[in-house]
Amino acid sequence: MASGSTFRPAKTGQHATQQARLQAYRPIVKLLHWLIAFLVLGQFVVALLMPKIGRATVPEPLINLHFSLGVLILVLMAIRALLRVLNPVLLDMPERPVWERWVAIATHRAFYFILLVGPFLGWASASAHKLPVNVFGLFVLPNIAAPKAAWALAAGDIHSLFMWILLALIGLHIAGALYHCLFLHDHILQRMLPVRGK
Ligand code: HEM
Ligand code: HEM
Repeated sequence: MASGSTFRPAKTGQHATQQARLQAYRPIVKLLHWLIAFLVLGQFVVALLMPKIGRATVPEPLINLHFSLGVLILVLMAIRALLRVLNPVLLDMPERPVWERWVAIATHRAFYFILLVGPFLGWASASAHKLPVNVFGLFVLPNIAAPKAAWALAAGDIHSLFMWILLALIGLHIAGALYHCLFLHDHILQRMLPVRGK
């Protein structure tokens, strides 16, 4: 029965691996989490301050900053996704209701999806608006859409929509982290902090 299988060596090994994965996010993953969080929130400030991008928009510093930060976030997010695939950390709240774990996992996946796909949609829109994607003055990315290409202009609208959905999800994510810390008094927030308490 169940108790018998618990002591099978294979299960024990599997259990140990699972425990190890549950334990902690690696320091590099925590660093990337907070760096990306900081950059993404800054990016929203820049997006709100930059001029509306339309037919007659010309390159200007805030627009260049938006593109540069966006490319930086994309690169950091790609590294983070790779680290996650190589070393997955399981969600550690087994005592919480299924719906809550589902919401947490869906939110994390949506973050990866929006931050990995969304920047390409913005890049396509930039190309369609004939705006060069000049990354911190270091290099210019090639155009990925023809000027005024209808699909790329639509991609720009989807980019903006995705990013506002992202902002709402970030609000949910922060509310969840604070709820765990302030009301449930568990270790969920601690798990992501630079120094982990007992
Ligand atoms: C990954 C981080 C990014 C975030 C959080 C972000 C956020 C946003 C937001 C919120 C808007 C809407 C602004 C408004 O409604 O006034 C916007 C628009 C735009 N973004 Fe981004 N962006 C990101 C990356 C990029 C990248 C990498 C590029 C280009 C290389 C880009 C190009 C654009 C363009 C062209 C628009 C105008 C879209 C249109 O109306 O056609 N963004 N972005
Ligand atoms: C732009 C802002 C943010 C983004 C995009 C973001 C993204 C993510 C993602 C994708 C994960 C899943 C772990 C992983 O796959 O690496 C995660 C975990 C986590 N985040 Fe954030 N985050 C943001 C801001 C915040 C803030 C402000 C807080 C705290 C108030 C926070 C607290 C946490 C915690 C505690 C976890 C660990 C959850 C667990 O696995 O138990 N995040 N975040």
